[in-house]
Amino acid sequence: MQSKLEHDFGTPESHAKESVTLNIDGMTVTVPAGTSIMRAASGAGVQVPKLCATDSVDPYGSCRLCLVEVEGRRGYPASCTTPCENGLNVRTQSPKLAELRKGVMELYISDHPLDCLTCATNGNCELQDMAGTVGLREVRYGYEGLNHTKSQKDESNPYFTYDPSKCIVCSRCVRACEEVQGTFALTIEGRGFDSRVSAGMGESFMDSECVSCGACVQACPTATLSEKSIIQMGQPDHSVTTTCAYCGVGCSFRAEMQGNRVVRMVPWKDGKANHGHSCVKGRFAWGYATHPDRVTKPMVRDKISDPWKEVSFDEAIQFASDKFKSIQAQHGRDSIGGITSSRCTNEEVYVMQKLVRAVFQNNNVDTCARVCHSPTGFGLKATLGESAGTQDFDSVMDSDVIIVIGANPTDGHPVFASQMKKRLRQGAKLIVIDPRSTDLVRSAHIEAQHHLKLRPGTNVAILNALGHVIATEGLVKEDYIASRCDVESFEKWRNFVSRENNSPEALEPVTGVPADEVRKAARLFATGGNGAIYYGLGVTEHAQGSTAVIGIANLALATGNVGRRGVGVNPLRGQNNVQGSCDMGSFPHELPGYRHVSEKATRELFGNAWNVTIQPEPGLRIPNMFEASMDGSFRGLYVMGEDIVQSDPNTQHVIAALEQLDCLVVQDIFLNETAMYAHVFLPGSSFLEKDGTFTNAERRISRVRKVMPPLSGLGDWEVIQKVAQTMGYPMNYSHPSEIMDEVARLTPTFKGVSYERLEQLGSIQWPCNDAHPEGTPTMHIQEFTRGKGKFISTEYIATDEKVTKRFPLIMTTGRILSQYNVGAQTRRTANMAWHSEDRVEIHPADAEDRGIVDGDWVGITSRAGETVLRALVSERMQPGVVYTTFHFPESGANVITTDNSDWATNCPEYKVTAVELTKVSQPSEWQSNYKRFAEKQINFLHQAEAKA
Ligand code: SF4
Ligand code: SF4
Ligand code: SF4
Ligand code: FES
Repeated sequence: MQSKLEHDFGTPESHAKESVTLNIDGMTVTVPAGTSIMRAASGAGVQVPKLCATDSVDPYGSCRLCLVEVEGRRGYPASCTTPCENGLNVRTQSPKLAELRKGVMELYISDHPLDCLTCATNGNCELQDMAGTVGLREVRYGYEGLNHTKSQKDESNPYFTYDPSKCIVCSRCVRACEEVQGTFALTIEGRGFDSRVSAGMGESFMDSECVSCGACVQACPTATLSEKSIIQMGQPDHSVTTTCAYCGVGCSFRAEMQGNRVVRMVPWKDGKANHGHSCVKGRFAWGYATHPDRVTKPMVRDKISDPWKEVSFDEAIQFASDKFKSIQAQHGRDSIGGITSSRCTNEEVYVMQKLVRAVFQNNNVDTCARVCHSPTGFGLKATLGESAGTQDFDSVMDSDVIIVIGANPTDGHPVFASQMKKRLRQGAKLIVIDPRSTDLVRSAHIEAQHHLKLRPGTNVAILNALGHVIATEGLVKEDYIASRCDVESFEKWRNFVSRENNSPEALEPVTGVPADEVRKAARLFATGGNGAIYYGLGVTEHAQGSTAVIGIANLALATGNVGRRGVGVNPLRGQNNVQGSCDMGSFPHELPGYRHVSEKATRELFGNAWNVTIQPEPGLRIPNMFEASMDGSFRGLYVMGEDIVQSDPNTQHVIAALEQLDCLVVQDIFLNETAMYAHVFLPGSSFLEKDGTFTNAERRISRVRKVMPPLSGLGDWEVIQKVAQTMGYPMNYSHPSEIMDEVARLTPTFKGVSYERLEQLGSIQWPCNDAHPEGTPTMHIQEFTRGKGKFISTEYIATDEKVTKRFPLIMTTGRILSQYNVGAQTRRTANMAWHSEDRVEIHPADAEDRGIVDGDWVGITSRAGETVLRALVSERMQPGVVYTTFHFPESGANVITTDNSDWATNCPEYKVTAVELTKVSQPSEWQSNYKRFAEKQINFLHQAEAKA
């Protein structure tokens, strides 16, 4: 149901450059050509009655309620389907129009249950409103309503209901599912009065193709499709605009509220990353914020074998501060450090790295981007000069050929996937490079021209093969390279990729992809018009992750595809604020704005502002922290918002390292797997309790606004500030906006960013400075940030993680739409209805060889460890490759991943683990131990809560 809190213009905006002028009800109105009369009138303050039109989908013209009179034209055209033209003279009100509209409404109401007073959408129902607007007082046809009013409700979806008795068959839901979401799950079944909306072939919503994005619910003008939260809680009384805390798309939402309680999340139409769309996570999976598992009181203990003790914030922070100081006194300045999180706001991350650099006095700060997109930072900085994607999401609407490599946007970045699918339906061509047959390869009205189904770990080989074809078949954009690129580096690269060993034919045995297919894909990309490359963790999380990012940049440069709309190199960031956490100086070698700690001027800039001396040597990366902990030189760690025990590779090693620490401080909203090894627990706040900003994958900085007070009483930045103060450093911000002001003062790319500016503009894509006061949607337009675009040769080196007789399969990992990362949030929502366990996907042939059938428990053994999951036999896999998600701690997906990592950044090689699968009947030893340990720790928590 559309919300009354947001204006509906009736039909989508026209982006035409030309404008037309007409007269509506005596007013002169000028609008872009192609604007409907309905929208033009709405913009001028005249609301033409409507039912089947809404501004998120194209007009359909079925209800006939929006009729108008146009001077000189016969009849009564529908204003939603009639475009404005120069000189038109339109009347939206007349006695005849009123009579016609009343007649239409009578028909609708005659087939509608008259239970408005007890209906969930009472007061926010367009049908009710329209009956009032047209002045309906009687229904001449009676209220028989035999067609729909007895129909069964479908309550199968955990978040919304479908009540056919209230359906007016306006088709807004069907169009939303097709046009906005691109899933095509709904149809109108039957004809005339017998027609009704149906999910799939008469299935329930849960059993259909529906992905629960909620676009249909939002489009429905009646109570037919209604959020269950609205049915339970009633209508909201106010709303606050904020940003989704899940993936890197960074959708804007209006949190619709009753007092401090969220009633529903409605994607914000003016949100520039999502344009009013969302996925199941952002729209519906927010209940975790008030889940009973939230830990809202600080706790301390001396040993992890001790029960927790609830204490005040002051006591907990004093405890942590004393421990950290004594560790440093005994073991030196570098013996402690901190880890920031991409789930936290820019301001929180900035303050956290400042705590490490200014208060701990070292550079031992790292972030979870270490394990996802650190190669992006390295590869794009080296080639283009900036550690970020080059485009805004809307740019895809100008792409002609799209490469998606190592990414599964329909699951990982669903709202952007919907936009990309829209462009593909308009005719853009698609090349998917992925070991699995993801949904993008073939789904409703979408089919990739080429699916290069490569062997995991061979991205660099396939990128070189594509480069080979482009370089040797005369497909290079010579003029672009001459004017925009470092020509010497290009020549070296050309010589390199042109070598026979980089040809698709030579690499076919390595990649498993037919050479002919690679050649066709390369030609399509190089000659098909605007070529854009989107990539994800399937590129970065490899031993050659940074090399592959460089390979992608090489391809984009060689084909002239950087520096304008429709093209570019686009990392799809996993978590909501991966970009921001990197921007804010979370890496041990970089201060905010990607400036190396070895640069004296940068150190002095920050040192003077903070009144400290910044150390010139890079600090420890996360894996180095673990190693240093094992050798006893690193003994205190402050982890904020990241669950390293579940998310980092080789879990046994991570746990062993944490067990060695004298003081582990965890700041989080739940007692996560890492907190089970902590000595101090500081309660964190969810995104609904925060003021701050997130920066999405397109460098877009958006406000996160507090809709309810922090359950613990303090915001995360306030807690960190108290730690700094207690350790003796004067940190005195009074609001997160002051933190952003400091970032802007010290970071050239953020110079023009402030909360005031964000209020004015809605969101800002950095760089935002004097040259680009409103931000930068497309980067590197005139020249690259580094001057000339640089080619770097990318020798393919096979990973050390080889298949052998003992470990003959390659395991790769990824996510699923309904769950998010380690699952801490989504596991505590009704999203469990879609995915309640991680399963290992295996090709039927491999399954048969091992006597495994769908649903069997199978042991997965690697060189690092063993775990047990249920099998999902699936043709999406290629033979020899298995796949799993990692959303449940008991799955132990990272018990089997190894210590191998990217040569440049240490990003773990999650995507390639040699394994063997065998049918088993019981959990692995690790899983049994985990279960015992976790139960004990949860018990400690409950004991502490009971005592308090
Ligand atoms: S929730 Fe989304 S996917 Fe499901 S039917 Fe509605 S629009 Fe389609
Ligand atoms: S379910 Fe709602 S949007 Fe869909 S046809 Fe019925 S009334 Fe219209
Ligand atoms: S696409 Fe990402 S940012 Fe948007 S609603 Fe879904 S999870 Fe949130
Ligand atoms: S709103 Fe125009 S025909 Fe329904």
